[in-house]
Amino acid sequence: MIGRSEEYEKMFRIEEQLWWYRILHERVVDTIVHFFNGRRDVSILDAGCGTGGLLHFLRKRDYTTLRGIDGSSDAVDFCHERGLPVQLVNLNELTGFEPDVLYDVIVCNDVFCYFNNDDLTRLLRQLARRLKPGGILISNNNAFGIFQGQHDLAVGSTRRFVQADFDRLMPPTGLNIVRSTYWSFLLAPLIVAMRQWQSWQLRLGWRRAENAQSDVYLPSSWVNKMLYTIVRLEGKLFQRTPFGSSLFIVSKPTQAVE
Ligand SMILES: C[S@@+](CC[C@H](N)C(=O)[O-])C[C@H]1O[C@@H](n2cnc3c(N)ncnc32)[C@H](O)[C@@H]1O
Repeated sequence: MIGRSEEYEKMFRIEEQLWWYRILHERVVDTIVHFFNGRRDVSILDAGCGTGGLLHFLRKRDYTTLRGIDGSSDAVDFCHERGLPVQLVNLNELTGFEPDVLYDVIVCNDVFCYFNNDDLTRLLRQLARRLKPGGILISNNNAFGIFQGQHDLAVGSTRRFVQADFDRLMPPTGLNIVRSTYWSFLLAPLIVAMRQWQSWQLRLGWRRAENAQSDVYLPSSWVNKMLYTIVRLEGKLFQRTPFGSSLFIVSKPTQAVE
């Protein structure tokens, strides 16, 4: 994704309104409220923060101790436009970034898909070391190969995950999964159909891979509202759902007790 300026621009323009980002940001806040009893002074690092949508959302909800890092100068510039404390850092070189600072919460949303298993293991180990006692790592990830479509090509994502991947990857890095769910379950058939249609268009040569577009665009306002309502309701009704295009995981350093 790094270097694809148009994708960062799209994200920056619509992440406050698009149903998918709103649901994800609310899910992150709900998680922080749950684990920290509503405290607003928890220190939060958004690692791979993109154009700063989540940090902006957290700041509007009175979270005071925020920090972001990203490996894209486009992303960092957009964050600075929002006045956010964000620095250009390659997550493969996280050891060099303020090594003595620890966080209550580290968020790493839709970033792990850019790492192979070896680099991801190294990154998870680093993230685990940066958590204060009682701290949590929150991570959203694209899930299940069946959802692969031109969106993945457009954002340069190289893999999709299932829960078993993290069950295998996390424990050796000192992290223990304490909560996880796939989402959005109710919209899954619609998203599968859309992504499969995109894949077939690519396979049949009706669409060229280099012209692939991400799904980051704003539908009409009533569609956006309807999708938001369905998925928000799903989150309220079910703590955990077994299938969906994303996998949301909360983990803690192994020695921590839930
Ligand atoms: C799909 S975007 C997600 C952005 C943001 N977390 C969000 O939820 O909107 C992936 C982000 O990871 C960043 N990224 C990918 N590889 C990285 C690396 N090695 N170091 C730092 N950032 C990286 C990209 O620049 C991009 O902003």
